[in-house]
Amino acid sequence: MTTLAALHRIARARLSDAGIVDAALDARILVEDLTGTTRTDLLARPEMDVSAEAAEKLALALARREAGEPVHRILGAREFYGLRLSLSPDTLEPRPDTEALVDLALPFVTSVCEERGACRLLDLGTGTGAIPLAILSAEPRANVVATDIAPGALETARANAKALGLAERVEFVMSDWFGGVDSVFDLIVSNPPYIPSAEIASLAVEVRSFDPLRALDGGADGLMPYRTIARDAGGHLAPGGAVMVEIGAGQGPDVAGIFAEQGFRQAGSRRDLGGHERALSFLRQ
Ligand SMILES: C[S@@+](CC[C@H](N)C(=O)[O-])C[C@H]1O[C@@H](n2cnc3c(N)ncnc32)[C@H](O)[C@@H]1O
Repeated sequence: MTTLAALHRIARARLSDAGIVDAALDARILVEDLTGTTRTDLLARPEMDVSAEAAEKLALALARREAGEPVHRILGAREFYGLRLSLSPDTLEPRPDTEALVDLALPFVTSVCEERGACRLLDLGTGTGAIPLAILSAEPRANVVATDIAPGALETARANAKALGLAERVEFVMSDWFGGVDSVFDLIVSNPPYIPSAEIASLAVEVRSFDPLRALDGGADGLMPYRTIARDAGGHLAPGGAVMVEIGAGQGPDVAGIFAEQGFRQAGSRRDLGGHERALSFLRQ
């Protein structure tokens, strides 16, 4: 038997010795999750015994973290917009930055629902389903077609929708952007891959070795998916419909230019918690 406080000490020391940037935070998340304890337990009952089984699981998790695997991948799930989402090797780990896109989209979705009683959304490149599931959980009148090119991502997104009780309002379609989509929508959302190909090798090991390449690689200049989305979005928008996309830091002017060439004007934007312009919305000119 080991005590809870001892496990926290061991985990912190191992991750800090391995040069992990957020060693203390990562250690705490792993210990709490794998022992089923909280921060209050550590303060109120530091000498509580932890089972050998939990200590063993933690040792394996620490070895994975030392090798660069991010904590939420090790635990197999991450919270997004208050929802617990399972991850798989085919899904990007959803980032807090993407909540800016949900914040930008929700008022539009709600206003369409008020006006028409429902809002039909298309999510291109859904990954875990993070964006549409957050929107559906906040707006019960919305429904979604969620697409991805990766069958494994769609499988995970479907499981997440089911676990959250939202599956009845989502249709999952395997599609290369708009290739397998044949109807029109009030809102098209996407967080496409937007990293320039040549920059991927220099990303942190947590990203380059554990997020799937097709969730990251946006082509030579990082903007290829925006060109495809802007080119084909018009044919899939209902009257008054909007397109909203997440962008990489500093990509705003280029992405706005790509959409302008296809007859869209920028109607709004939203910053992430780091202050970067992170989500843009477009309407037909
Ligand atoms: C940056 S990830 C975003 C995942 C999720 N929407 C999120 O925000 O967490 C981009 C997603 O686009 C998908 N994708 C890449 N190329 C695609 C294509 N040609 N057609 C459809 N989806 C694609 C990837 O599989 C990945 O799930």
